Amino acid sequence: MSRPTLAERLERLGTETAFTVSLAAAEWGAKGHQIYPFHLGDLDLATPANVVAAMDRAVADGKTGYCPAAGIPQLREALADDIGARRGLTYSPAQVVAQPGGKAVITKFIQAVMNPGDEVLYPSPGYPIYESQIDYFGGDAKAYRYVPTPTGFAIDLDQFRALVTPKTRAIIYNDLQNPIGAESSSAEREAIAQIAIDNDLVVLSDEAYFEMRYSGMSVSIASLPGMQERTVILYTFSKKFAMTGWRLGAAVGPQAIADAIAKLNTNDESCTTHFVQYAGVEAIQGDPHAADYILAVLLQRRDAAVEAIASIEGMSVATPEATFYLFPDVTEAMAITGSADVAAFAERALHATGVSFCTRRHFGRPQPGETRQYIRFAYSGLGADDIREGLGRLGQWIGSFR
Ligand SMILES: Cc1ncc(COP(=O)(O)O)c(C=O)c1O
Repeated sequence: MSRPTLAERLERLGTETAFTVSLAAAEWGAKGHQIYPFHLGDLDLATPANVVAAMDRAVADGKTGYCPAAGIPQLREALADDIGARRGLTYSPAQVVAQPGGKAVITKFIQAVMNPGDEVLYPSPGYPIYESQIDYFGGDAKAYRYVPTPTGFAIDLDQFRALVTPKTRAIIYNDLQNPIGAESSSAEREAIAQIAIDNDLVVLSDEAYFEMRYSGMSVSIASLPGMQERTVILYTFSKKFAMTGWRLGAAVGPQAIADAIAKLNTNDESCTTHFVQYAGVEAIQGDPHAADYILAVLLQRRDAAVEAIASIEGMSVATPEATFYLFPDVTEAMAITGSADVAAFAERALHATGVSFCTRRHFGRPQPGETRQYIRFAYSGLGADDIREGLGRLGQWIGSFR
């Protein structure tokens, strides 16, 4: 049989190229080399035991058949209360639609609100699935950028405003940002909200890391005046409860969009895994401290990583108070090692030291005017000792060029 022809739209579908970095690291590891996996935003920590037990009970109780497309009522109620309370908002359970992970909210939001040809603003560097899904469904993906500040990064609001046209339909906003680890100031968040209101735009607020913070309080853009009625929140159990492989999340927002997303659920997966939703109810309503160890461990790792990077020549990094990512500027380190290209720098670092990481290139199309080079370290998948050891090796390798 001749090779089957694939649909043309697949040419527009991007992917999460961090997984290709995993492959390269695995191949290098298979040759007997020690690997320090800083490339994937996954956790090597156990899901809280009470959550696992709740799933076991649900299976034993026969919660193994189909359930409502929008989710079991107990989960929708628990999420409406919890998400609302943490943001100072009121949601009805009907506005909460269970999803197989937070990622599913991105594609369903885009399908629900974007017509072909509509422009959608999204962050680059940013989570690469935004760009992929806008392109795939025939939208016009308009990237907004972050600029370095003395304490981290900020959205370039002048560029952001200049991107808005009569064809702009939606904004994708990821406060507590992957890959940068950045958090908006109040002024920045308010400015984005004002742009959304002035131009009658809908917003996807990707709040995957809303509760992944070491100090301070997260603020949702949905809680600013005039925003709840135009904002869909992406919620996920993946990070807070170390449940990345369980695939459980939710879309929360205006009723018409929630209903459209529930209809997409019926078409795509019928329902989110039934018994996993009971585990979600326990995660939210069970022991409120059951998941505390996750943030405590991540904080130790953040401190270990920031300290180690501070002693690496040619690298500098801000210390984010949220997420589990660091986004160091490696422009000088690349120069010291004679690496003209950030991808080559990453490959050489892997082979010389076993340290595996993504680069800015894995997070959306580069934008005009980008002169500095960045890489991303995810410190969620390896212990503090391995962090120190791996980054120590990286520092020695860079130093060896002097
Ligand atoms: C910014 C952001 N949004 C969404 C997700 C999706 O996560 P999940 O589908 O596991 O909920 C991730 C995962 O890394 C992320 O970093």
